[in-house]
Amino acid sequence: MRDLAAVLPRPIRMGTALAAGPLLTDSAYRRTAGEEFSMFTPENDFKPQFVQPRRGVFAFAEGDTLVDFAEANRMKVHGHTLVWFEALPAWMRAEMTHEQRRRVMVEHIRAVAGHFRGKVAEWDVVNEPMSDEDEDYVNGNRGVRPQLWFEAMGEQYIDIAFHAAREADPHAVLYLNEYGVEEDGPRWDALYALLIRLKERGVPIDGVGFQDHEYAVGDRTDPEVFRRKVRALAGLGLKARVSEADVLVDEDEEDIQARQLAGKLAVCGEEPNCTSFSTWGFTDKYGSTADLRHYPPSPGNALPWDATYEVKPAYWALRDVL
Ligand code: XIL
Repeated sequence: MRDLAAVLPRPIRMGTALAAGPLLTDSAYRRTAGEEFSMFTPENDFKPQFVQPRRGVFAFAEGDTLVDFAEANRMKVHGHTLVWFEALPAWMRAEMTHEQRRRVMVEHIRAVAGHFRGKVAEWDVVNEPMSDEDEDYVNGNRGVRPQLWFEAMGEQYIDIAFHAAREADPHAVLYLNEYGVEEDGPRWDALYALLIRLKERGVPIDGVGFQDHEYAVGDRTDPEVFRRKVRALAGLGLKARVSEADVLVDEDEEDIQARQLAGKLAVCGEEPNCTSFSTWGFTDKYGSTADLRHYPPSPGNALPWDATYEVKPAYWALRDVL
């Protein structure tokens, strides 16, 4: 797929999520990843809980393994993620003053984006800033999730994070990544309003990643609605990407999976500000959200390759779009 995507009139990158573990132990995983994709997102290995297990103690071995793999295979790395309310080491969640909390966030960004400067092309600077609670859309939060970073700094935690990331690696393309915003509704409206505020305040944000997980029948979204979101971002001077697509289906629904994934890829290929299309993993051997650092694999049926690395209809549908 990567070669077809590279010779489109407007080339895009084909991506996936990868983990250092199977890259080292599973040759079919390694081969398929290198042959089919031109970009990847470290699934867990760059998350704060693994990268800074204790304050000031950084663990970059897995991350460096991934970066080496990218260099050997001419792939871009999309870093994930500098600031999130999950995947935090316990010490980062501990009680501290607002000022200490701000310092911890900025130091983490500086150290991690600094370590990977020149090796990681893009970052998810802030992951999942929008709330899941209806009440946060009607009160003063304006839909922004009230988590630990927000509690310490208010919405400005997003501004501070993007400024710190830009400073740490001036050439990296900086994204905000979110789920459930592929569709119309209050979540999208609140995100769009947030983006306008960020732009007005001069926050150095370059784009938005649409996770696009489709775990259940109710999650199936319309590519044409997604197209409008991508165009709305273009109107703000922002890039878009599909960052974590997967479509969980029953065995007799592989055509639905193929249609959903191909529909989003087609939109991305057609909209000039859409830069890449990534699935969240590629083989059902490890599932799309199996925890490759802590738990045994939990196969599902959400990805273009089955658990034995046979391609499914989704693979051919994606190729057909390219
Ligand atoms: C998931 C990983 O896939 C799992 O292995 C891990 O146990 C939990 O995190 N949105 C994100 C990703 O931004 O970081 C999440 O990844 C999936 C949802």
